[in-house]
Amino acid sequence: MKIIFATGNQGKIREVKEILGDQVEVLTMKEAGVDCDPEENGSTFTENAYIKARAVREKCKASGNKELIDCIVMADDSGLEIDAMPGELGVKSARFMGHDTSYDIKNQAILDRMKDVPVEERGARFVCAIAAILPDGRELDTKGVMEGQIGYEISGNGGFGYDPIFYLPEYQASSADISAEEKNRISHRGQALRQMKELL
Ligand code: IMP
Repeated sequence: MKIIFATGNQGKIREVKEILGDQVEVLTMKEAGVDCDPEENGSTFTENAYIKARAVREKCKASGNKELIDCIVMADDSGLEIDAMPGELGVKSARFMGHDTSYDIKNQAILDRMKDVPVEERGARFVCAIAAILPDGRELDTKGVMEGQIGYEISGNGGFGYDPIFYLPEYQASSADISAEEKNRISHRGQALRQMKELL
């Protein structure tokens, strides 16, 4: 099984390769020679995942390259929902404070905004929707959620993006502190990808 995964995010690609394992070959858009960056203007994670997957699928078809047309195209749309900052991140997580702002700055800004928010109001969750388009045009989607809290400090060197401020009470650690294997076992992306693997 050959999959083109529609993202340029290296953190996501690493996790997708780890989670899907050796039975499937995962190509990045760059490796497949496909270039596209559609506007993610959907109002849900699932809509945005389909926007990306369909755009890449169209590029594959337009290429006339049978190897690309025979691949499964998959895309994820994910993000962080923070209860104390409703509507600010969610499907707009990557755009929060601007695409090019570093996560060190974004994470610190969120901690600063939430410094007086009590622990019981610090609920947050990572959500991941996966959309897949099969070579015959059939479409499938799955979703995973990882519940946690916004921590009080930046912690850990693993993961990517908002992981250093995402506190997992049951581990007393952030999702950047735990091992990659453990994160993949419990994460929103791990759940959604394993469901998709089952469906396929
Ligand atoms: P997307 O590329 O539009 O799906 O944007 C996803 C956004 O959510 C990016 O800002 C990511 O940094 C963030 N995000 C998604 N999944 C994770 C994760 O597992 N850890 C940390 N940040 C994540």
